[in-house]
Amino acid sequence: MTYTKWFNCVICFVASAMTLGDTTIAPTIKLNNGLDMPVIGLGTWKSREGDVVQAVKDAIDAGYRHIDTAWIYQNEKEIGEALKAKIDEGVVKREDLFIVSKLWNTYHRPEDVELAINQSLNALGLDYLDLYLMHAPTDFQKVGNTTFPTDENGQAVSAGVDFVDTWKAMEEVYRKGLTKSIGISNFNKRQIEKILEKGSVVPVTNQVECHPYLNQKKLAEFCKSKGITLTAYSPLGSADRPWAKPDDPKLLDDPNLKKIADKYKKSAAQIVLRYLTQRGLIAIPKSVNKGRIEENINIFDFELSPEDMKYVDSFDRNGRIFTFDWSSKHRFYPFSDEY
Ligand SMILES: NC(=O)c1ccc[n+]([C@@H]2O[C@H](COP(=O)([O-])OP(=O)(O)OC[C@H]3O[C@@H](n4cnc5c(N)ncnc54)[C@H](OP(=O)(O)O)[C@@H]3O)[C@@H](O)[C@H]2O)c1
Ligand SMILES: *[C@@H]1O[C@H](CO)[C@@H](O)[C@H](O)[C@H]1NC(C)=O
Ligand SMILES: *[C@@H]1O[C@H](CO)[C@@H](O)[C@H](O)[C@H]1NC(C)=O
Repeated sequence: MTYTKWFNCVICFVASAMTLGDTTIAPTIKLNNGLDMPVIGLGTWKSREGDVVQAVKDAIDAGYRHIDTAWIYQNEKEIGEALKAKIDEGVVKREDLFIVSKLWNTYHRPEDVELAINQSLNALGLDYLDLYLMHAPTDFQKVGNTTFPTDENGQAVSAGVDFVDTWKAMEEVYRKGLTKSIGISNFNKRQIEKILEKGSVVPVTNQVECHPYLNQKKLAEFCKSKGITLTAYSPLGSADRPWAKPDDPKLLDDPNLKKIADKYKKSAAQIVLRYLTQRGLIAIPKSVNKGRIEENINIFDFELSPEDMKYVDSFDRNGRIFTFDWSSKHRFYPFSDEY
């Protein structure tokens, strides 16, 4: 099968963002199943109960239509409240929204997948998702309510489930209409090849860490060759990740990035998000601050020159933040391969 048609759309998305008054509606990218996915979405990991309802409302008011959550973020109920409020207010219709959730590692057994997506749907108050992702290729054993079961060495305990079998169960919930698309997250090239070989549905996206310090050029190129989009998580460098150390480099404080920002009269965050989407990627910046939520979608009124794109490319430094050390001994640990 050829995906040329989709790539043309990928390339032309920059054409124009729709504007409604002060609101920017992000352009969309055409997925391999024909559906349109907004290229900017709101990230919600670490967005706690007290903040996330307002953040999602502010995002919808600012023109976001794509919200990224996961069962493991424990905020689907609050996100559902915000969605309901905005739908009830008449600001958006369900069909305007693109809601993404993820299957957690303890639910990889094929018989658990439908149960898991139903839990997310019930919490969100929805009868379908737009996209359901396998959060990672690594299964964890389900012991009571433990979400990160570990052995005495702090290593994740696997129940031996192959992600291909999990993927086939995801294909089933997709066929049943519980989600409009299915995809993967934290998969490497070899793992994607295995899904393409053994599965019957091509994932619409691979959601992976991606920002100027880890620009994922090779993985993005490989995904593109298979008709799979790449969604950039932690696009701003995830400064609020719980394991950040004071001396860790902070992407948004990079002086070279600030130089570009000054040149375009934009913020460092806007340069990064523009850089990613201009490459044809989807980005899901997290914020619970109204001003920053607006800032992060306000990136469709300028373009980085080819020289500046190349310059930001040169920031790449194998700067992976998510090394998932607790599953480094898992047989499906994704980050041992080059990409
Ligand atoms: N699939 C996976 O395994 C996986 C892993 C990680 C993340 N994700 C998804 O990707 C989303 C984004 O990643 P992330 O949350 O790790 O990090 P991120 O979006 O790279 O960065 C979030 C941090 O940047 C701050 N921020 C946001 N906008 C800013 C701006 N314009 N200027 C300055 N600072 C700004 C936020 O603070 P404020 O909130 O205070 O603005 C927060 O501290 C997650 O929320 C989640 O939905 C998925
Ligand atoms: C999941 O929800 C659907 C739709 O409500 C229902 O038909 C199905 O029986 C549920 N499956 C499980 C395993 O709970
Ligand atoms: C597991 O979670 C369920 C639902 O939140 C709760 O009712 C139950 O008590 C929990 N079980 C344990 C062992 O913590």
